[in-house]
Amino acid sequence: MSHLVFDAVTKTFQSRTGPIPVVEPFDLEVAKGEIVVFLGPSGCGKTTLMRMVGGLETPTTGAIRLGGAVLGKPDRRRGMVFQSYSSFPWLTVEENVAFGMRYRGDLGAAEKRDRARHFLGVVGLTEFAASYPNRISGGMRQRVAIARTLAAGSDVLLMDEPFGALDAQRREQLQVELRRILEADAKTIVFVTHDVEEAAFLADRVVVFTRRPARTLALVDVTARLGAHRDLETRDSRAFFELRSELLHLVRSTAEDT
Ligand SMILES: Nc1ncnc2c1ncn2[C@@H]1O[C@H](COP(=O)(O)OP(=O)(O)O)[C@@H](O)[C@H]1O
Ligand SMILES: [Mg+2]
Repeated sequence: MSHLVFDAVTKTFQSRTGPIPVVEPFDLEVAKGEIVVFLGPSGCGKTTLMRMVGGLETPTTGAIRLGGAVLGKPDRRRGMVFQSYSSFPWLTVEENVAFGMRYRGDLGAAEKRDRARHFLGVVGLTEFAASYPNRISGGMRQRVAIARTLAAGSDVLLMDEPFGALDAQRREQLQVELRRILEADAKTIVFVTHDVEEAAFLADRVVVFTRRPARTLALVDVTARLGAHRDLETRDSRAFFELRSELLHLVRSTAEDT
């Protein structure tokens, strides 16, 4: 059953020099529990698409539906982690994570605290639970944002290059962890990256976009090739190697002037 549906979605911005088409008709059906990665060159329109899913922009034509209903303003069914994120400086790290659960009337205070601590552990920040955001690094603050969004338990997670500012080792850990979270608790995730390796490792399917205006250049079924379970050994497999080089060729073909 499809869960998140893009139905002929377009976006055109108006500028003083005329209209700027950013997204050409885009169609995609994302199943519940699936992780779809948007891969494409910088400036092609990935963030614009994500902002439309999040309700921060409206499609010029077409519609995005979740569970059958057309999406409107931001709500808690959609949790977003963007490239750079500001946490609340007057709340501790743990309180910032708990803040993501403020609307979860189904959780008691103790459950919220346990859940906040659990996800701080997932992102490797347990020992900083009582610290304030201005006392930790930018990469750590990004991990706070990730923990907060995971703890909130939205139906759909929108992650726009969330690991971009992290060092390679931490990024790998979080990629593995994200797949593990998905195996335990089916979440629908739309994840933006321009990193081919990250796309290949994380995705069930990858949408490769052209340069602006974004069109689907290829839709690659990663799970059919690698299986649903991913771990550190996945990266050493021949199937992963072939997939990565295929994606790289696609991205290169669109980065060049054609
Ligand atoms: N509010 C806006 N008004 C005009 N142009 C915009 C606006 N937002 C984004 N754009 C343009 O849309 C294009 C795609 O941007 P974006 O979606 O951020 O790309 P990506 O995330 O793939 O790097 C860029 O050329 C950007 O300048
Ligand atoms: Mg972007």
